[in-house]
Amino acid sequence: MLKRLMVAISGASGAIYAQRLLETVQSFYDHIYLTASDNALGIMADELGIESLQGIIPHGAAEKFSVLNSNDLSAPPASGSHEYDGLVVIPCSMGVVGRIASGISNDLVTRAADVCLKERRKLILVIRETPLSLVHLRNLTALTEAGAIILPAAPAFYNKPKSIDEMVDFVVDRVLRTLGIGKHLIRDWGEE
Ligand SMILES: Cc1cc2nc3c(=O)[nH]c(=O)nc-3n(C[C@H](O)[C@H](O)[C@H](O)COP(=O)(O)O)c2cc1C
Repeated sequence: MLKRLMVAISGASGAIYAQRLLETVQSFYDHIYLTASDNALGIMADELGIESLQGIIPHGAAEKFSVLNSNDLSAPPASGSHEYDGLVVIPCSMGVVGRIASGISNDLVTRAADVCLKERRKLILVIRETPLSLVHLRNLTALTEAGAIILPAAPAFYNKPKSIDEMVDFVVDRVLRTLGIGKHLIRDWGEE
């Protein structure tokens, strides 16, 4: 069976996490569905200088990707009958968290998340917001109870990062490990 993953970029700060994830994860999947909300596209242009979703696809890997419109609710990952391993929303806004937690499947990101929860597939939400309100915390609790994995974009400092790229790698490494991918960007704690 084909190994397929969906990656969605939502309107939180941190498009660089998505860019690095796509670079590192693409060789482990046969196919990757990629989508972004309209807000995400604006933030990506601002933060990375990338004006279209195609522009974030790693060089030489285009044939592996389907770029999907975030309003296309007839795209394959919107259906539970289409087999794919799971969805990573990276970065994940609190708006998306709230909509998934409420079951409001009004676009491809939230519908695919809904599919992953009901089909018991992996749903990884790389959230970025601070501070968190009670509303955020309740939504995050509901999503954890429903089976999602909340993976905050919170780089550590015990590995003494020397650049933004190393801080990004810390977060992306946690996503790879959560997906069960053996390639690690950060050495295991306690190992040389
Ligand atoms: C420049 C910019 C940065 C933002 N950063 C965040 C963020 O880090 N976290 C967050 O939850 N929302 C953030 N927002 C707000 C979301 O984009 C907004 O709530 C949006 O409706 C979320 O829905 P979407 O993810 O579907 O785009 C930001 C908005 C802008 C314009």
